[in-house]
Amino acid sequence: MTEAPADPRSLPADHPLATGTTASAPLVQAYRGVPPAITPVWFMRQAGRSLPEYRELRTGLGMLEVCLDPALASEITLQPVRRHGVDAAIFFSDIVIPLRLSGIGVEIQAGTGPVFDRAVRTAADVDALVAAGVPHAEDSGFDPIREGVRRTVAELGATPLIGFAGAPFTLAAYLVEGRPSRDHLAARRLMHADPEAWARLMAWCADVTGAFLRAQLLAGASAGQLFDSWAGSLSRADYIRHVAPASARALSWARGLTAPDGSRVPLVHFGLGTGAFLPEMRDAGADVIGVDYRIPLDEASRRLHDAVPLQGNIDPALLGAPWPVLAEHARDVLRRGRSAPAHVVNLGHGVPPDTDPDVLTRLVGLVHEAGAE
Ligand code: CP3
Repeated sequence: MTEAPADPRSLPADHPLATGTTASAPLVQAYRGVPPAITPVWFMRQAGRSLPEYRELRTGLGMLEVCLDPALASEITLQPVRRHGVDAAIFFSDIVIPLRLSGIGVEIQAGTGPVFDRAVRTAADVDALVAAGVPHAEDSGFDPIREGVRRTVAELGATPLIGFAGAPFTLAAYLVEGRPSRDHLAARRLMHADPEAWARLMAWCADVTGAFLRAQLLAGASAGQLFDSWAGSLSRADYIRHVAPASARALSWARGLTAPDGSRVPLVHFGLGTGAFLPEMRDAGADVIGVDYRIPLDEASRRLHDAVPLQGNIDPALLGAPWPVLAEHARDVLRRGRSAPAHVVNLGHGVPPDTDPDVLTRLVGLVHEAGAE
């Protein structure tokens, strides 16, 4: 793995963190480790099938086409903010968008996930990909993303927008399998069968996904989140040796971005089933660790020496439980979150599509009231 690019750059003067519009938002404060007056809350996959207004807009339109339509992507991003009063928007897009913008044939099949025209299986496949080059954050291919972010930020005012990208391993797991898989065997096989080809693939993924994240941040997102949804299929040793350097490289494309007061754009690193390597995820260059529902927040915080702001970790399964059960669980999450320097409430993974949206709205009320106690 070559050195991660050191790439400091000031945010544009009209960026919401540079103008101060979002700088004192509870989410940004918490991400910077300063406990705000209310505990901020947002939900992964808060925009999506749980909302009737989303289902109506999506009718007859492909997922990736909607992501590349700035007006639609912006409207869908705003829907959960209006409805639930969450403390952040997350830009409506998908982790495979930068792959599509790099010329890779990929679709999202409803109920399945990303499906590719062909899988990347051999060193020759990897080299063909690398030879095709990587997009840069400033490339015109990202224009629809930039435009979508700008429109959204103009509507959001003091509510921060979170930009995001897939971590290199999660992208590589899809590319090598060609479609979603349970244990990512083909990807883990390539990692060990041809470590050099694997490293080239991971560096390529890091730069492609880093450009996507950087484009959103420069266009006005006030925080960034890297999703390593499938890293939980890795051993700690494989994560450290074959994955973490690429995640650090992806994050480095966003880490150098600073506001006029010298503060950086806060970065969140989230993984599913990654409790065994939370410190390594932090060391990859994150300010905040997103925790899934498998370990309690106080335990996650202990593994990080109680020194890292945490995000999480309401079990999405409990959204369908009777309200008193969910409410007690949410209060427990809030209590355990106090171990960390600051806590942003979220789910331990995305909102299930069959969730009653009124439950999410009620949960936002509970977090804001309980967090203010
Ligand atoms: O609200 C938000 O969180 C922002 C939007 C967002 C989407 N995808 C929209 C989406 C985000 C942050 C993502 C990230 C993403 N995409 C991840 C990482 C997070 C995670 O869930 O682990 C992954 C692994 C993907 C790949 C992907 N895209 C999957 C597995 C799916 C689901 C397939 C299905 O139908 O169940 C998608 C499609 C997708 N991305 C949808 C949404 C709202 C569903 C599309 C639909 O409406 O049919």
